[in-house]
Amino acid sequence: NKQAAMKICCIGAGYVGGPTMAMIGFKCPDIEVVVVDINEARIAAWNSDKLPIYEPGLLEVVLAARGRNLFFSTDVNKHVGEADIVFVSVNTPTKTRGVGAGKAADLTYWEGAARVIASVSTSSKIIVEKSTVPVKTADAIEKVLRRNCSDPSVQFEILSNPEFLAEGTAIEDLTNPDRILIGGKDTEAGRAAIATLASVYEHWIAKDRILCTNLWSAELSKLTANAMLAQRISSMNSISALCEATGADVQQVSRAIGTDSRIGPKFLNASVGFGGSCFQKDILNLVYICETVGLQSVAEYWHQVILMNDFQKQRFVERVISAMFNTISKKKIAVFGFAFKSDTGDTRETPAIDVCRGLMADGANLCVYDPEVEDKQIYQDLGTEKFEWDHPSPRSAPIPKTAIAISHDAMEAARDAHAICVLTEWDRFKNYDYQAIYDNMVKPAFIFDGRNILDHAKLREIGFIVYALGKPLDPFLQKHYAARPAVFTAAISHRGKAVKA
Ligand code: UDX
Ligand code: UDX
Ligand code: ADP
Repeated sequence: NKQAAMKICCIGAGYVGGPTMAMIGFKCPDIEVVVVDINEARIAAWNSDKLPIYEPGLLEVVLAARGRNLFFSTDVNKHVGEADIVFVSVNTPTKTRGVGAGKAADLTYWEGAARVIASVSTSSKIIVEKSTVPVKTADAIEKVLRRNCSDPSVQFEILSNPEFLAEGTAIEDLTNPDRILIGGKDTEAGRAAIATLASVYEHWIAKDRILCTNLWSAELSKLTANAMLAQRISSMNSISALCEATGADVQQVSRAIGTDSRIGPKFLNASVGFGGSCFQKDILNLVYICETVGLQSVAEYWHQVILMNDFQKQRFVERVISAMFNTISKKKIAVFGFAFKSDTGDTRETPAIDVCRGLMADGANLCVYDPEVEDKQIYQDLGTEKFEWDHPSPRSAPIPKTAIAISHDAMEAARDAHAICVLTEWDRFKNYDYQAIYDNMVKPAFIFDGRNILDHAKLREIGFIVYALGKPLDPFLQKHYAARPAVFTAAISHRGKAVKA
């Protein structure tokens, strides 16, 4: 039992804290890493073979380090008290009420963590912001720490170390990140803290990939990176609508522009909309910060990225309804994929929520199949409103129980259905026996591919009427869409718009 060279404690065993600390523990056998959380079930799951989050390769990393120098515990006070470095990786959801509702980040959990740190610390510590927070949060947190710690000899040095991992590829992203970003104060103590944190990452990451900035730049870089990524998707989604109207193919356009080295090929896939816990939240955060400092034009510029995302989901719902003879009432529609992207069971802000609600608002009976999302999560997501200020709309009307079914088998989900909507890009959807699926469906059988992952030519050969996002329309669809020009009305209430109301 060698004494650890350094002790790290991470508050928050979620999507970010869990995998990040597992990787640090895995790569740094000389450092003791303890992940703490107030959620006992979550900690129990981290200590079992059924981890609380689905992430390819994660279990192997956890198994290699757990019990050696990686631990998961609910004893927050003990481990925070002993740590040299405390990472704070608690949830920072968008506020649902009060000032800034729908936009500002809710820092309740962050502040709670700061108060715990202050109350149990008997030695100086480096405090690392890992969760995405509004710019200048470090400032506020520092005040909470200073005012609540009774021992005047204890010093806190605050660093911002935003995490750029994406869900589904977390292990790959953590093993080989584009960069590690560390923001800190330009003081002697600040520089020393940065060097200490850098030394952790230098166990496996080349020095030239570790970027050091001031605190605010690091915090703002994280918001900007997510806003820019989301903006690329909204830009392509806007073009997908134009492609359908003019006969161009959005995938051909993506490929053509992606070869420009200034643009680059990644993140140009048009889709039914972006989701995930970060993009919308971080943009709303950015918008709120801009408004707070009086930069209304800048706020509106970024807000448009979210409005375009809402427009895309709504457009998709409209496409489904108008293709199916303007009525989906009582028709069974199979939904393939509910997670916000493939290789995750996470549904936070998934476009499937708004699309499904839009379809249900028009009376469809849905049968959802997703390989990783848990049933109760789907019911919960489709049954409740997100924000208090959401106006009463078809979306918030009580949904009859019969409107949502869940299946664990794609073939069953599609049996007797009038249509299939592909909402997540799971690989397995590509390889199904669509002839067999077609044979069991009501005719005409429709497929609406919101991710452009299927072989559309082959599906048309089988007999499907296919809507592929941003692609030239089937002659059948052309006729129907012409008969009913898209109006994009209230199928989905605009979260973004309501903010302004
Ligand atoms: C542009 C496109 O680059 C080129 O592919 C197309 O064929 C014609 O339009 P050009 O207008 O000649 O070319 O110059 P470019 O280098 O793109 O710069 C355009 C403007 O953007 C300039 O005013 C430049 O100063 C500005 N710019 C460019 C910035 O402000 N910031 C940058 O990071 C890059
Ligand atoms: C994102 C950032 O990528 C990551 O750096 C940050 O740390 C957290 O937020 P994540 O939300 O996990 O990660 O997934 P990401 O791969 O970025 O996808 C976000 C959404 O955009 C998904 O709904 C995805 O399907 C969608 N998307 C992505 C597209 O619609 N088109 C694309 O080309 C890429
Ligand atoms: P993220 O996606 O940012 O990782 P998650 O919601 O997945 O966010 O995880 C955040 C975790 O932080 C949750 O498991 C929550 O229980 C935990 N948490 C929040 N506040 C505290 C606190 N004061 N002490 C310990 N854990 C906390």
